[in-house]
Amino acid sequence: MIRIEGLRKVYRVGEEKIHALRGVNLHIGDNEMVAVMGASGSGKSTLMNIIGCLDRPSDGTYFLDGQAVAKMSPNELALVRNEKIGFVFQSFELLARQTALENVELPLIYSREAGLTAAERTRRALEALERVHLTDRVTHRPNQLSGGQRQRVAIARAILNKPSILMADEPTGNLDSVTSHEIMEIFKGLHRDGQTVLVVTHENDIAAYCQRVVRLRDGHVLSDLSIAEDMAGRKAG
Ligand SMILES: Nc1ncnc2c1ncn2[C@@H]1O[C@H](COP(=O)(O)OP(=O)(O)OP(=O)(O)O)[C@@H](O)[C@H]1O
Ligand SMILES: [Mg+2]
Repeated sequence: MIRIEGLRKVYRVGEEKIHALRGVNLHIGDNEMVAVMGASGSGKSTLMNIIGCLDRPSDGTYFLDGQAVAKMSPNELALVRNEKIGFVFQSFELLARQTALENVELPLIYSREAGLTAAERTRRALEALERVHLTDRVTHRPNQLSGGQRQRVAIARAILNKPSILMADEPTGNLDSVTSHEIMEIFKGLHRDGQTVLVVTHENDIAAYCQRVVRLRDGHVLSDLSIAEDMAGRKAG
């Protein structure tokens, strides 16, 4: 489903060129759950933004479900993104004045399914909130929710359009250890139900929820191993 070859990303800051990705090859199949790891500045978010169709590479090819997305216009990219990608961020990115339910419904209002009735939107949003075990907090606003509950609202919002890929960039970065594991259990449950999941993390015990670990260094893929191989390498190294 994801086929990336020779992916490069160069950022220009004034006169300076920053080579954030220097030729990344990566294939990810349907229903994989993959951790992306690497030191700060190694290119993880840059790679996630390109996979998530938020940004375009400077060079290389990227096929998503057979579609060549690397050279699409920003408008075409936005359509693919709305249809195929769900995002979860470290900082939740919820609207402060909206309830949990309204936050989750939002993508349906702007999606191609804009013809849905309000009742149908609510039904779909409640269904998503049920999948993250949050039906008892639907009328709460973000500041009336714990960090873990906020992140569950964000996950419900991300899965609402049944994305091909659920992408999470350090989803547990702002959460304590117990809550982090609760959030990873949710991702694991979604993966068990068929969802493809990509998670950026700095923590080995968060990566342990995945089947595969891709490690980046200086814009390269340093290693791409099963979780068992990656763990064995860590012990040996
Ligand atoms: N919009 C941008 N403009 C210029 N340089 C950028 C931009 N975004 C990222 N970079 C640079 O590209 C490199 C990779 O950044 P990236 O954000 O992908 O790293 P990361 O692995 O996600 O790091 P972290 O773990 O700190 O989130 C870094 O050197 C960074 O400074
Ligand atoms: Mg990052």
